[in-house]
Amino acid sequence: MQISTTANPSPVDDARLAEILAAPGFGTHFTDHMFTVEWTPGRGWHEARITPYGPLTLDPATAVLHYAQETFEGMKAYRHDDGSIWTFRPEQNAQRMVRSSHRLAFPVLEPDDFVQAVDELVRVDQRWVPDGEGEGEKSLYLRPFMFASETFLGVRPAQHVTFMVIASPAGAYFKGGVKPVTLWLTEEYTRAGRGGMGAAKTGGNYASSLVAQQEAIDQGCDQVVFLDAQEGRYVEELGGMNMYFVFDDGHIVTPETGTILEGITRSSIIELAGKLGRQVEERKLGIDEWREGVTSGAITEIFACGTAAVVTPVGSLKWDGGEAPAPASTELTLQIRQALVDIQYGRADDAFGWMHRV
Ligand code: COI
Repeated sequence: MQISTTANPSPVDDARLAEILAAPGFGTHFTDHMFTVEWTPGRGWHEARITPYGPLTLDPATAVLHYAQETFEGMKAYRHDDGSIWTFRPEQNAQRMVRSSHRLAFPVLEPDDFVQAVDELVRVDQRWVPDGEGEGEKSLYLRPFMFASETFLGVRPAQHVTFMVIASPAGAYFKGGVKPVTLWLTEEYTRAGRGGMGAAKTGGNYASSLVAQQEAIDQGCDQVVFLDAQEGRYVEELGGMNMYFVFDDGHIVTPETGTILEGITRSSIIELAGKLGRQVEERKLGIDEWREGVTSGAITEIFACGTAAVVTPVGSLKWDGGEAPAPASTELTLQIRQALVDIQYGRADDAFGWMHRV
C-alpha cells in the first residue's frame, strides 16, 4: 500500500505534549495525525494517506450514521526502555477486523495493509508514545476503525467504505489504577444472541451495552456484567472486557467464545497462564456458580481483561436484590498482569514472539 503523508503544520507543542503525557487519562487527547484509506467496488482500497488530525465532514445521509455499519479495533504501542516502540500482536487485531468485516458485510482490508497503516501512523506520531515508567503503565492507544461512508439511505452494504486509524495516549482505563472493580449484573438487558454480532468488534455492541452500563453506574458499580440471551444463566462478558475465574484447586475458567468478543488479551492469557503452570478451561460458567463460588471460597479470584483494561481484579457483584462478596484474593491476577505487561514493555523475554517492532 502506497501511503502519502502530509505533515501537520501546527502540531501540539512540546510543553503541552509533556503535560498531556504526564497524565493522559483515556481517550481524551489525540495525536497530530490520522490515517485514512477509502474503498469503492471499482477501485478497491485507494488513496491511503496520513494527514493532520482533524474533524471529518460527513453528509447527513452517510450510511454509518443511520445503520451503524462499523467495526473497530483497540490496540496499543509501548515504548521500551531503549526508546524503541512496539505493538502487541497487531496481526491478531488485523485478523479480527477481517472477521468483524465479514459479519458487518464490509470488504476485507488485508492484514498486512492494516499493520502497515498502524505502523506508519505510530512512526509519524512517535513523540506521542509515552514512557512506560511509573503509575498505571502508559502507552499510545490505537483505534483502527472502518465505517460505511456512502451517502445513501437504502439498507444494503455500503459501496463506499472508509478505514481510519487514530491514536490517543493512554494511562489506566479505570480511575484509581489497579484495584478491584465492582460489577452490576443486568438481568434485563443482553448484548448478543445466537447468530448476532456478539463476536464482532462493532460499535453497535457497545451502544447496546450503554443503558446497562448506566444502570451499573447508578448502582455505584464500575462495570456491567451480561448473561447469555437464550437462558439468562451464563456469564458472557462485561461492557468492554472479557472475564476470568480462578478456582481453589488452581484451575482457571473463562467463558467460551461464540457470542462474546474474542479478546486478544483473553487469548494471550490462556497461553500465559499455561506458562505459569495453570490450566485454562473455556466453558460456560453459570451466574449461580459465581455467586456460590465466591461465597464458599471455591472461586478465589475473578478478573477482567482487555486492551484498555489490561488485567483488572474484580470485586463484589451486585444485582437487583442482592450482592455477592469480592473473591478472597488477587494474587494470581496481579501475577498474570505483571507477566503480560513485562512482555509488552520489553522487561521480560518475549517467549511467544508477540511483540512487533514499529
Ligand atoms: C479495548 O479494550 O481496546 C476496547 O476496545 C474496549 C473498550 C475501550 C471499548
